[in-house]
Amino acid sequence: MKTIFSGIQPSGTLTIGNYLGAIQQFVKLQEEEDCYFCIVDEHAITVPQDRLKLRQNIRSLAALYLASGIDPQKSTLFVQSEVPSHTQLGWMLQSISYMGELERMTQFKDKSEGKEAVSSALFTYPSLMAADILLYNTDLVPVGEDQKQHLELTRDLAQRFNNRFNDIFKIPEVSIPKVGARIMSLQEPTKKMSKSDENEKGFISMLDTPKKIEKKIKSAVTDSEGIVKYDKENKPGVSNLLNIYASCTGESIEVIEEKYAGKGYGEFKQGVADAVISVLKPIQDRYDELIDSEQLDDILDQGAEKASFTANKTISKAKKAMGLGRVKKKKNQ
Ligand code: TYM
Repeated sequence: MKTIFSGIQPSGTLTIGNYLGAIQQFVKLQEEEDCYFCIVDEHAITVPQDRLKLRQNIRSLAALYLASGIDPQKSTLFVQSEVPSHTQLGWMLQSISYMGELERMTQFKDKSEGKEAVSSALFTYPSLMAADILLYNTDLVPVGEDQKQHLELTRDLAQRFNNRFNDIFKIPEVSIPKVGARIMSLQEPTKKMSKSDENEKGFISMLDTPKKIEKKIKSAVTDSEGIVKYDKENKPGVSNLLNIYASCTGESIEVIEEKYAGKGYGEFKQGVADAVISVLKPIQDRYDELIDSEQLDDILDQGAEKASFTANKTISKAKKAMGLGRVKKKKNQ
């Protein structure tokens, strides 16, 4: 059995990008593997957050994980800040991270571009992400394509630590889905769909009403050709909608192209909207039942306890390897 770890930031309501790129894989993996899924609230504070909204978003993300099919009997679901070893190992890994490699991270470049006040935590974010993963002896990390570079750094840090100190960390592999790895904005299809996009029409939130979903997909940017065909270079808008359709239904792109051959974008967009709604509607219904339930708190309490158990074991080994903590005198009998 493999150990799986992945995390999502509670920095806004999740988009179908998060669902199709990440959660959908998580739900499948938990059937066979030992899975840890984390609500990475300490990553979210690397950019300014409204404190009341953040706490609400943490709860909401937990409910969305469960509503999407994460089963607490099979997976460990927990909040990062409730397991203190994450920041502790994050700090230790910062001490072996180089400025140069952190400067090369595209997520840092994107998020800091044009900003006057950039926190140092945003810069060292990848070291904390490495800590998240390495604490659990993780074999595999399922993520969307945008996290690939962070995973490469995680592997480098694990290897560096093992070489420099002691062979403690497992070197994790990354798993990126074949379709759905990079869902693009509906308004700017050359840009990744993001929950922090200022233009609400660019993304579909997992909690958007069916009416809103339909409206957003109908106003998605396409082209004037009128042919439903996958061509990422020349038809990024249509290709993105095809990708969304395929990820929601499990049908191949070719089958969908055939289905809409000779038909216009109007009919195709309706098909995309129906596919998205049929995936999201049952999740939304379950979400409504879970969001205010006490059961949610019990699941997160148990998750934090279980995660702490494994994380504490790793952190004590890592501390000792690095020389942290004092030498203890043996007591005379
Ligand atoms: P975050 O919160 O931005 O996104 C969560 C997951 O969703 C995927 N994703 C997408 N997939 C396809 N298309 C998109 N448009 C799209 N947008 C987001 C992401 O790739 C990710 O898998 N740094 C991470 C959180 C993190 C983490 C970790 C992940 C912290 N520690 C340890 C894995 C392991 C992040 O910002 O994800």
